[in-house]
Amino acid sequence: MTAPAPMKILITGAGGMLGTDLGNVLSQEFEIVGLDRRPVTHLTVPYDICDLTQARMTRDAILSHKPEVIIHTAAMTDVDYCEEHHDEALAGNVAATEHVVDAANEIDASIIFYSTDYVFDGNKKGEYLETDTPNPLSFYGKTKRMGEEYILRVSKRALIFRITWLFGIWGRCFPKAILRQAAEATKMNVVDDQIGRPTWSWDVAQAMRQLLLNKKDVLLKSGANIFHLGNAGTVHWADYARFLLKGAGLGAVKIMDIPSAHLKRPAPRPTNSVLSLEKSEKILGLKLRSWEEATLEFLPKLKQELALLEAKAKAQAAEKENTA
Ligand SMILES: NC(=O)c1ccc[n+]([C@@H]2O[C@H](COP(=O)([O-])OP(=O)(O)OC[C@H]3O[C@@H](n4cnc5c(N)ncnc54)[C@H](OP(=O)(O)O)[C@@H]3O)[C@@H](O)[C@H]2O)c1
Repeated sequence: MTAPAPMKILITGAGGMLGTDLGNVLSQEFEIVGLDRRPVTHLTVPYDICDLTQARMTRDAILSHKPEVIIHTAAMTDVDYCEEHHDEALAGNVAATEHVVDAANEIDASIIFYSTDYVFDGNKKGEYLETDTPNPLSFYGKTKRMGEEYILRVSKRALIFRITWLFGIWGRCFPKAILRQAAEATKMNVVDDQIGRPTWSWDVAQAMRQLLLNKKDVLLKSGANIFHLGNAGTVHWADYARFLLKGAGLGAVKIMDIPSAHLKRPAPRPTNSVLSLEKSEKILGLKLRSWEEATLEFLPKLKQELALLEAKAKAQAAEKENTA
Protein backbone atom coordinates (compact mmCIF):
# COMPACT_ATOMS: atom_id res chain seq x y z
CA MET A 1 0.00 0.00 0.00
CA THR A 2 1.42 3.42 -0.90
CA ALA A 3 1.55 6.10 1.81
CA PRO A 4 -0.86 9.03 1.31
CA ALA A 5 0.73 12.10 -0.30
CA PRO A 6 1.74 14.73 2.29
CA MET A 7 -0.57 17.70 2.63
CA LYS A 8 0.42 20.56 0.31
CA ILE A 9 0.86 23.90 2.03
CA LEU A 10 1.58 27.24 0.37
CA ILE A 11 3.36 29.89 2.47
CA THR A 12 3.18 33.54 1.44
CA GLY A 13 6.04 35.77 2.60
CA ALA A 14 8.10 32.57 2.57
CA GLY A 15 11.37 34.49 2.93
CA GLY A 16 10.25 36.63 5.86
CA MET A 17 10.97 36.11 9.56
CA LEU A 18 8.00 33.82 10.27
CA GLY A 19 7.70 32.45 6.71
CA THR A 20 11.27 31.10 6.74
CA ASP A 21 10.84 29.31 10.08
CA LEU A 22 7.50 27.89 8.92
CA GLY A 23 9.12 26.51 5.76
CA ASN A 24 12.01 24.98 7.69
CA VAL A 25 9.75 23.38 10.33
CA LEU A 26 6.85 22.23 8.15
CA SER A 27 8.87 20.86 5.21
CA GLN A 28 9.79 17.84 7.35
CA GLU A 29 6.22 16.47 7.19
CA PHE A 30 4.40 18.45 4.53
CA GLU A 31 4.88 19.45 0.91
CA ILE A 32 5.75 23.13 1.02
CA VAL A 33 5.78 25.74 -1.69
CA GLY A 34 6.49 29.39 -1.01
CA LEU A 35 5.67 32.74 -2.57
CA ASP A 36 7.66 35.92 -2.04
CA ARG A 37 7.99 39.13 -3.95
CA ARG A 38 11.77 38.93 -4.57
CA PRO A 39 14.56 36.34 -4.63
CA VAL A 40 15.56 35.16 -1.14
CA THR A 41 19.00 33.55 -0.84
CA HIS A 42 18.42 31.81 2.52
CA LEU A 43 15.30 29.87 1.49
CA THR A 44 15.46 26.07 1.56
CA VAL A 45 11.92 25.40 0.22
CA PRO A 46 10.89 25.81 -3.43
CA TYR A 47 9.21 29.15 -4.10
CA ASP A 48 7.84 31.39 -6.83
CA ILE A 49 8.19 35.12 -7.14
CA CYS A 50 4.76 36.72 -6.78
CA ASP A 51 3.66 40.19 -5.76
CA LEU A 52 0.43 39.61 -3.85
CA THR A 53 -0.77 43.15 -4.49
CA GLN A 54 -1.30 41.97 -8.11
CA ALA A 55 -4.64 40.13 -8.18
CA ARG A 56 -4.09 38.20 -11.41
CA MET A 57 -0.54 37.12 -10.55
CA THR A 58 -1.65 35.95 -7.08
CA ARG A 59 -4.61 33.98 -8.43
CA ASP A 60 -2.44 32.32 -11.10
CA ALA A 61 0.26 31.36 -8.59
CA ILE A 62 -2.19 29.91 -6.07
CA LEU A 63 -4.32 28.07 -8.63
CA SER A 64 -1.24 26.58 -10.28
CA HIS A 65 -0.17 24.97 -6.98
CA LYS A 66 -3.65 24.08 -5.60
CA PRO A 67 -2.55 23.83 -1.95
CA GLU A 68 -4.87 22.42 0.71
CA VAL A 69 -3.76 25.09 3.18
CA ILE A 70 -2.41 28.60 2.60
CA ILE A 71 -0.38 30.14 5.41
CA HIS A 72 -0.50 33.85 4.70
CA THR A 73 2.39 35.58 6.49
CA ALA A 74 3.22 38.21 3.84
CA ALA A 75 2.51 41.74 4.99
CA MET A 76 3.92 45.21 5.09
CA THR A 77 5.25 44.95 8.63
CA ASP A 78 7.15 48.22 9.06
CA VAL A 79 4.72 50.00 11.38
CA ASP A 80 6.20 53.50 11.00
CA TYR A 81 6.49 53.16 7.21
CA CYS A 82 2.79 52.18 7.04
CA GLU A 83 1.88 55.30 9.05
CA GLU A 84 3.42 57.48 6.32
CA HIS A 85 2.56 55.40 3.23
CA HIS A 86 -1.14 54.62 3.47
CA ASP A 87 -1.62 53.47 -0.13
CA GLU A 88 1.22 50.96 0.08
CA ALA A 89 -0.01 49.71 3.46
CA LEU A 90 -3.53 49.22 2.08
CA ALA A 91 -2.16 47.36 -0.95
CA GLY A 92 0.25 45.17 1.04
CA ASN A 93 -1.97 44.35 3.99
CA VAL A 94 -5.53 44.59 2.71
CA ALA A 95 -5.65 44.08 -1.08
CA ALA A 96 -2.98 41.34 -0.90
CA THR A 97 -5.00 39.51 1.77
CA GLU A 98 -8.18 39.84 -0.31
CA HIS A 99 -6.38 38.35 -3.33
CA VAL A 100 -5.09 35.40 -1.28
CA VAL A 101 -8.49 34.74 0.32
CA ASP A 102 -10.37 34.96 -2.99
CA ALA A 103 -8.00 32.48 -4.64
CA ALA A 104 -8.19 30.17 -1.59
CA ASN A 105 -11.98 30.14 -1.81
CA GLU A 106 -11.81 29.18 -5.50
CA ILE A 107 -9.81 26.04 -4.74
CA ASP A 108 -11.40 25.32 -1.32
CA ALA A 109 -8.12 25.87 0.53
CA SER A 110 -8.06 26.73 4.24
CA ILE A 111 -6.24 29.87 5.36
CA ILE A 112 -4.00 30.56 8.31
CA PHE A 113 -3.52 34.32 8.71
CA TYR A 114 -1.37 36.27 11.17
CA SER A 115 -2.64 39.43 12.77
CA THR A 116 -1.33 41.50 15.62
CA ASP A 117 -1.83 42.98 19.08
CA TYR A 118 -1.78 46.36 17.28
CA VAL A 119 -5.50 45.88 16.44
CA PHE A 120 -6.11 46.95 20.07
CA ASP A 121 -5.63 50.41 21.58
CA GLY A 122 -3.84 49.05 24.66
CA ASN A 123 -6.09 50.83 27.16
CA LYS A 124 -7.53 47.66 28.71
CA LYS A 125 -6.47 46.78 32.25
CA GLY A 126 -5.62 43.09 31.93
CA GLU A 127 -5.15 40.62 29.10
CA TYR A 128 -6.95 41.08 25.78
CA LEU A 129 -9.45 38.37 24.86
CA GLU A 130 -10.31 37.38 21.28
CA THR A 131 -13.79 38.82 21.91
CA ASP A 132 -12.54 42.30 22.92
CA THR A 133 -13.37 45.08 20.48
CA PRO A 134 -10.44 46.12 18.28
CA ASN A 135 -9.57 49.81 18.12
CA PRO A 136 -6.22 50.14 16.31
CA LEU A 137 -4.13 53.26 17.00
CA SER A 138 -1.76 52.96 14.04
CA PHE A 139 -2.43 52.73 10.31
CA TYR A 140 -0.61 49.35 10.28
CA GLY A 141 -3.03 48.12 12.97
CA LYS A 142 -5.97 49.43 10.96
CA THR A 143 -4.88 47.58 7.81
CA LYS A 144 -4.29 44.33 9.72
CA ARG A 145 -7.79 44.66 11.21
CA MET A 146 -9.20 45.26 7.72
CA GLY A 147 -7.49 42.03 6.65
CA GLU A 148 -9.08 40.21 9.60
CA GLU A 149 -12.50 41.65 8.74
CA TYR A 150 -12.27 40.50 5.13
CA ILE A 151 -11.33 36.98 6.24
CA LEU A 152 -14.14 36.85 8.82
CA ARG A 153 -16.64 37.99 6.19
CA VAL A 154 -15.52 36.10 3.11
CA SER A 155 -13.22 33.18 3.92
CA LYS A 156 -14.70 29.69 3.69
CA ARG A 157 -12.31 28.29 6.32
CA ALA A 158 -9.69 30.26 8.21
CA LEU A 159 -7.81 30.60 11.46
CA ILE A 160 -6.55 34.05 12.40
CA PHE A 161 -3.66 34.06 14.87
CA ARG A 162 -2.92 37.37 16.55
CA ILE A 163 0.75 37.25 17.52
CA THR A 164 2.86 39.83 19.32
CA TRP A 165 6.39 41.24 19.54
CA LEU A 166 7.80 38.69 17.09
CA PHE A 167 11.52 38.00 16.99
CA GLY A 168 13.50 35.62 14.82
CA ILE A 169 16.62 34.99 12.81
CA TRP A 170 15.28 36.01 9.42
CA GLY A 171 13.86 39.50 9.82
CA ARG A 172 14.02 42.86 11.52
CA CYS A 173 13.31 42.52 15.23
CA PHE A 174 13.99 44.10 18.62
CA PRO A 175 16.73 41.69 19.80
CA LYS A 176 18.77 42.30 16.62
CA ALA A 177 18.38 46.08 16.95
CA ILE A 178 19.46 46.04 20.61
CA LEU A 179 22.48 43.82 19.99
CA ARG A 180 23.54 45.90 16.99
CA GLN A 181 23.34 49.12 19.03
CA ALA A 182 25.10 47.51 21.99
CA ALA A 183 28.13 46.83 19.80
CA GLU A 184 28.64 50.59 19.50
CA ALA A 185 27.28 52.04 22.76
CA THR A 186 27.82 51.97 26.50
CA LYS A 187 24.24 53.05 27.26
CA MET A 188 20.91 53.06 25.44
CA ASN A 189 17.46 54.58 25.91
CA VAL A 190 14.60 52.04 25.82
CA VAL A 191 10.91 52.60 26.55
CA ASP A 192 9.41 51.11 29.69
CA ASP A 193 5.71 51.95 29.27
CA GLN A 194 4.71 49.26 26.75
CA ILE A 195 4.18 45.71 27.95
CA GLY A 196 3.85 42.57 25.85
CA ARG A 197 4.90 39.00 25.17
CA PRO A 198 8.10 38.62 23.09
CA THR A 199 7.42 35.66 20.78
CA TRP A 200 9.91 33.61 18.79
CA SER A 201 8.84 32.93 15.20
CA TRP A 202 10.38 29.43 15.54
CA ASP A 203 7.97 28.64 18.40
CA VAL A 204 5.02 29.90 16.35
CA ALA A 205 6.15 27.60 13.51
CA GLN A 206 6.35 24.65 15.92
CA ALA A 207 2.83 25.47 17.14
CA MET A 208 1.59 25.45 13.53
CA ARG A 209 3.18 22.01 13.04
CA GLN A 210 1.31 20.72 16.10
CA LEU A 211 -1.90 22.29 14.86
CA LEU A 212 -1.61 20.76 11.38
CA LEU A 213 -0.71 17.34 12.77
CA ASN A 214 -3.17 17.15 15.65
CA LYS A 215 -5.98 19.66 15.14
CA LYS A 216 -6.50 19.77 11.40
CA ASP A 217 -10.24 19.26 12.03
CA VAL A 218 -10.47 22.77 13.54
CA LEU A 219 -8.83 24.23 10.44
CA LEU A 220 -11.20 22.33 8.17
CA LYS A 221 -14.33 23.60 9.96
CA SER A 222 -16.34 26.18 8.05
CA GLY A 223 -16.01 29.84 8.84
CA ALA A 224 -13.23 31.83 10.43
CA ASN A 225 -12.04 31.88 14.01
CA ILE A 226 -9.61 34.16 15.90
CA PHE A 227 -6.95 32.96 18.38
CA HIS A 228 -4.23 34.74 20.31
CA LEU A 229 -0.79 33.09 20.38
CA GLY A 230 2.53 33.96 21.97
CA ASN A 231 5.31 32.87 24.27
CA ALA A 232 4.23 32.83 27.93
CA GLY A 233 5.03 35.66 30.35
CA THR A 234 5.13 39.43 29.95
CA VAL A 235 7.76 42.16 30.07
CA HIS A 236 8.29 45.81 29.09
CA TRP A 237 10.82 46.74 26.37
CA ALA A 238 13.48 48.14 28.74
CA ASP A 239 13.57 45.00 30.91
CA TYR A 240 13.51 42.86 27.78
CA ALA A 241 16.56 44.78 26.50
CA ARG A 242 18.35 44.16 29.83
CA PHE A 243 17.56 40.44 29.57
CA LEU A 244 18.89 40.32 26.00
CA LEU A 245 22.13 42.10 26.86
CA LYS A 246 22.76 39.87 29.86
CA GLY A 247 22.00 36.76 27.77
CA ALA A 248 24.41 37.94 25.08
CA GLY A 249 27.18 38.65 27.60
CA LEU A 250 26.82 42.43 27.15
CA GLY A 251 25.43 43.18 30.61
CA ALA A 252 27.85 46.11 31.03
CA VAL A 253 25.82 48.19 28.54
CA LYS A 254 23.39 50.32 30.55
CA ILE A 255 19.69 50.63 29.68
CA MET A 256 18.05 53.96 30.55
CA ASP A 257 14.24 53.75 30.91
CA ILE A 258 12.32 56.39 28.94
CA PRO A 259 8.62 56.98 28.15
CA SER A 260 7.42 56.18 24.57
CA ALA A 261 6.55 59.86 24.02
CA HIS A 262 10.28 60.69 24.02
CA LEU A 263 10.88 58.62 20.88
CA LYS A 264 8.50 60.65 18.68
CA ARG A 265 7.89 57.73 16.31
CA PRO A 266 5.38 58.27 13.51
CA ALA A 267 3.02 55.46 14.61
CA PRO A 268 1.51 55.25 18.09
CA ARG A 269 1.86 51.87 19.88
CA PRO A 270 -0.49 50.31 22.44
CA THR A 271 0.79 50.44 26.03
CA ASN A 272 -0.80 47.08 26.85
CA SER A 273 -0.10 44.43 24.19
CA VAL A 274 -0.75 41.44 26.43
CA LEU A 275 -3.05 38.96 24.70
CA SER A 276 -4.78 36.20 26.63
CA LEU A 277 -3.45 32.79 25.59
CA GLU A 278 -6.25 30.76 27.18
CA LYS A 279 -8.37 30.11 24.11
CA SER A 280 -5.56 28.70 21.94
CA GLU A 281 -4.47 26.49 24.83
CA LYS A 282 -7.98 25.22 25.60
CA ILE A 283 -9.25 24.70 22.06
CA LEU A 284 -6.09 24.02 20.07
CA GLY A 285 -3.85 22.61 22.82
CA LEU A 286 -1.18 25.19 21.93
CA LYS A 287 0.95 26.31 24.88
CA LEU A 288 4.25 28.03 24.12
CA ARG A 289 7.17 28.11 26.59
CA SER A 290 8.18 31.32 28.38
CA TRP A 291 9.69 34.20 26.39
CA GLU A 292 12.81 33.97 28.59
CA GLU A 293 13.42 30.32 27.70
CA ALA A 294 12.78 31.01 24.01
CA THR A 295 15.12 34.03 24.01
CA LEU A 296 17.95 32.12 25.66
CA GLU A 297 17.74 29.43 22.98
CA PHE A 298 17.45 32.03 20.23
CA LEU A 299 20.52 34.12 21.12
CA PRO A 300 23.27 31.56 20.32
CA LYS A 301 21.40 30.52 17.16
CA LEU A 302 21.34 34.14 16.03
CA LYS A 303 25.07 34.50 16.69
CA GLN A 304 25.79 31.31 14.74
CA GLU A 305 23.62 32.35 11.79
CA LEU A 306 25.18 35.83 11.63
CA ALA A 307 28.67 34.28 11.64
CA LEU A 308 27.66 31.91 8.83
CA LEU A 309 26.23 34.75 6.74
CA GLU A 310 29.38 36.79 7.29
CA ALA A 311 31.59 33.85 6.23
CA LYS A 312 29.41 33.28 3.14
CA ALA A 313 29.64 36.97 2.16
CA LYS A 314 33.43 36.90 2.58
CA ALA A 315 33.74 33.73 0.46
CA GLN A 316 31.56 35.27 -2.27
CA ALA A 317 33.65 38.47 -2.27
CA ALA A 318 36.87 36.44 -2.51
CA GLU A 319 35.46 34.36 -5.39
CA LYS A 320 34.46 37.54 -7.22
CA GLU A 321 37.95 38.96 -6.78
CA ASN A 322 39.54 35.75 -8.07
CA THR A 323 37.40 35.64 -11.20
CA ALA A 324 37.85 39.37 -11.94
N1 LIG B 1 7.01 41.25 13.34
C1 LIG B 1 6.15 41.37 14.37
O1 LIG B 1 6.52 41.83 15.47
C2 LIG B 1 4.71 40.91 14.21
C3 LIG B 1 3.87 41.02 15.31
C4 LIG B 1 2.57 40.61 15.16
C5 LIG B 1 2.12 40.11 13.96
N2 LIG B 1 2.94 40.04 12.90
C6 LIG B 1 2.41 39.51 11.62
O2 LIG B 1 3.06 38.26 11.38
C7 LIG B 1 3.25 38.07 9.97
C8 LIG B 1 4.71 37.75 9.69
O3 LIG B 1 5.53 38.82 10.14
P1 LIG B 1 7.09 38.84 9.86
O4 LIG B 1 7.68 39.73 10.88
O5 LIG B 1 7.57 37.46 9.64
O6 LIG B 1 7.14 39.63 8.47
P2 LIG B 1 8.41 39.98 7.54
O7 LIG B 1 9.67 39.44 8.15
O8 LIG B 1 8.31 41.42 7.21
O9 LIG B 1 8.13 39.10 6.26
C9 LIG B 1 7.09 39.38 5.37
C10 LIG B 1 7.47 38.79 4.04
O10 LIG B 1 6.41 39.06 3.11
C11 LIG B 1 6.97 39.66 1.94
N3 LIG B 1 6.01 40.53 1.32
C12 LIG B 1 5.62 41.75 1.72
N4 LIG B 1 4.74 42.27 0.86
C13 LIG B 1 4.58 41.35 -0.14
C14 LIG B 1 3.82 41.31 -1.32
N5 LIG B 1 3.07 42.35 -1.69
N6 LIG B 1 3.89 40.22 -2.09
C15 LIG B 1 4.68 39.18 -1.74
N7 LIG B 1 5.42 39.16 -0.64
C16 LIG B 1 5.38 40.23 0.16
C17 LIG B 1 8.16 40.44 2.46
O11 LIG B 1 9.03 40.79 1.42
P3 LIG B 1 9.96 42.11 1.60
O12 LIG B 1 11.03 41.71 2.56
O13 LIG B 1 10.44 42.35 0.24
O14 LIG B 1 9.08 43.19 2.14
C18 LIG B 1 8.74 39.42 3.45
O15 LIG B 1 9.53 38.44 2.80
C19 LIG B 1 2.75 39.35 9.31
O16 LIG B 1 1.47 39.14 8.81
C20 LIG B 1 2.73 40.38 10.43
O17 LIG B 1 1.74 41.37 10.20
C21 LIG B 1 4.25 40.40 12.99
